[in-house]
Amino acid sequence: MSEHAWRDEIATRAPALGEKPRATLAAYLSVIAPRAADPSGELPPDGRDLALTNCLSCHSLFTGYLMQRRDRAGWLSVFASPFHKEIEVTPEERELFADYSALNMPMRLQDVPPELRF
Ligand code: HEC
Repeated sequence: MSEHAWRDEIATRAPALGEKPRATLAAYLSVIAPRAADPSGELPPDGRDLALTNCLSCHSLFTGYLMQRRDRAGWLSVFASPFHKEIEVTPEERELFADYSALNMPMRLQDVPPELRF
């Protein structure tokens, strides 16, 4: 199902959900849904999980991620930098990460947990 179709589906099933969470969920489901059909399997990591797993070890998540405004292509380009080559993410995870990040970054300062503001 396409991202657009997922947006409609989510709007029908969860009308109270806001625009940004709906777009975020639709982007995630359009990538993972074919595989997520396995009821015993866990859901693949989403963009938030991927950022927390892969972007904290070398520099601040705050300046390197949470405060960055980029479009999808801009987020995909992160993985092209020489100093990011060793980040182990699959092509699908890059897509998930870029979709999620383009929709949800930058965060508003007041929404960033104090322990991540550095
Ligand atoms: C292996 C260490 C390492 C990891 C892991 C890492 N970075 Fe970086 N990153 C660097 C280095 C080195 C620089 C360049 C020097 C600097 O700006 O601190 C950098 C710079 C950046 C920059 C500014 C330059 C650019 O490419 O636009 C952004 C944005 C960034 N990182 C985002 C991320 C994100 C998002 C992740 C997780 C997907 C991540 N980084 C994970 C090492 C890392």
